[in-house]
Amino acid sequence: MSLVNIYGEFSCAKFLCPAYKYCMCGIVGYSGSQNAKAIVMDGLRTLEYRGYDSAGVALGGDRLKVFKTAGRVNALDAMLPAGGACHTAIGHTRWATHGKPNAVNAHPHLSYDKKIAVVHNGVLENCAELKSELAGKGISCVSETDSELLAHLLALEGGDMLEAVRRVGGKAKGSATFLAIREGDPAVYVFRKGASMLVAKGEYGSFAASDGLALARYVGTATVLQDDEYARITHDVCAIFKDGARIFKSSTPLRVSPPKECACHMRAEIDEIPAALERTYLKVSEALDDELADRVRRAKRVMLAGCGTAFHACRYGKLLLEQMAGICAEAVAASEADEGAPVDGDTLALFVTQSGETADTLLAMKRCAEGGAYTVAVTNVESSGAALAADKTLFLDAGAEVAVAATKSYCCQLLAVNMLARRVAGDILREEELKKLTNGAKECIARCELFEKRMLTDKLFLVGRGQDLVTAKEGALKLKEITYRQAEAYAAGELKHGPIALIDSESTVIALATREDCLPRMRATVSELRSRGAYVVGLSGAGDLGADKTVFLPSLEDVTLRPILCVLPLQELALCSSLCLGLDPDKPRNLAKSVTVI
Ligand code: G6P
Repeated sequence: MSLVNIYGEFSCAKFLCPAYKYCMCGIVGYSGSQNAKAIVMDGLRTLEYRGYDSAGVALGGDRLKVFKTAGRVNALDAMLPAGGACHTAIGHTRWATHGKPNAVNAHPHLSYDKKIAVVHNGVLENCAELKSELAGKGISCVSETDSELLAHLLALEGGDMLEAVRRVGGKAKGSATFLAIREGDPAVYVFRKGASMLVAKGEYGSFAASDGLALARYVGTATVLQDDEYARITHDVCAIFKDGARIFKSSTPLRVSPPKECACHMRAEIDEIPAALERTYLKVSEALDDELADRVRRAKRVMLAGCGTAFHACRYGKLLLEQMAGICAEAVAASEADEGAPVDGDTLALFVTQSGETADTLLAMKRCAEGGAYTVAVTNVESSGAALAADKTLFLDAGAEVAVAATKSYCCQLLAVNMLARRVAGDILREEELKKLTNGAKECIARCELFEKRMLTDKLFLVGRGQDLVTAKEGALKLKEITYRQAEAYAAGELKHGPIALIDSESTVIALATREDCLPRMRATVSELRSRGAYVVGLSGAGDLGADKTVFLPSLEDVTLRPILCVLPLQELALCSSLCLGLDPDKPRNLAKSVTVI
């Protein structure tokens, strides 16, 4: 079935436009009485998880000053002159998908007269058209980017800058969220189309940023701009406009603390899991109601969709809805959601997404909403696109997660879908059970027993059944993401139908078992693997597996919660392996935390 059939011509064109291929950046701007350079650099450090190929800032004043470089925000910091007080600045951190991540292509881009600087998140679909319009006026680009065109177009418009922003933003097709500053003008100009943008007024000035994390240190609330809205922000005002008229919009509490400076965010985020689970328990308990449980029971089709780690939470949720509540459910990778049958008004579609910004997930959600489905978002960001678009949101409150590899958000996603499945089954998770879970999590994190040097290999396998297969897949993903080594997860019973051909004495296998009823079959699998020379490590919450070595999980009565413990040693393993290999687990190559491309 073609995408056009499912999405309809209009929405398909909108969502499949090349714009969604390029908009993976973090942008931040400030105008006020404080040191704008320091505030924007601070924002860029916070947003760096959105992309870390290149970075740049433009400092306002009588003459604009632009600094940009390939590489990380620290490299940019090193090239900035000391002092240089200014009160207006914009900055950008980039995840390159097109055009080399070099200094020329890095943002900000200056206009031909050097009087306007622009940072852009998105891609201009009508880039060729705009380029030839500019060429006709003798203006050519110095970079390979489409973003530079915006700076030239703004300069060409001349006159009132706010009106120029409206006109240029309107002219831009595709995705064009940008910030601009002009020499001798204290304001930052903001335009949103396609990619997220928040603006906020604080005591000492106004702010604009791609996400609330960059703002949370300075303001408690922010306004989420919608497409084609634009703003002029200065020390005194944060004025929002649409179609030439000022509009007044309410602001949203940010309710997120910016992550503290630390040597390794992934380490800190794993350590935070017990506390994050407690917060999730409270938030999800508040939001879960009979209406939602009824809707799940009554739906003819229940679908769970997400990407990466969140997809694994969907697979776990599907199993629990089936096993606990007897509800048939399907778990799909959001990027594959268009391959299935079209949804209708009898569908309940639940989207799991830490950031609430993943383009594949948002697209699948839009498709479901257009088909008439009731949509539920399980997300960690209250002001995210997923939360704003869904009919119902289960907010995780795991706290900001900035290491690219998801850890605490995964555990909280598992808890949230577990609580939902219970509620659908007419049960609730009691506080005593949560306490046992969080105590178990603390013990697991303190122990860290799984890592062995021989696991730094490309011949690492993880095997399990049912909920343990989901954990095996999540463990393998973690290892791939941050060690760049091959780690594959297989259904234990499927090994003998093919993958066992890969096993030899060089192989290390982690065999997972959190259910007593799986033990006999898992023991058989372990024995098959060992007899082919593999070194097998058991990771068990159920009993002995007959492996070369077994790491036992803290005991936990509730079988369905054991995957939340079982994933912890695997997260630790990935982290230790990454550090042992001298890699940066927080910012693995080729990846970004929020994948706003399809
Ligand atoms: C990216 C990240 C993964 C994450 C996935 C889904 O691929 O690298 O760690 O699991 O996006 O992100 P979401 O924010 O939708 O949960």
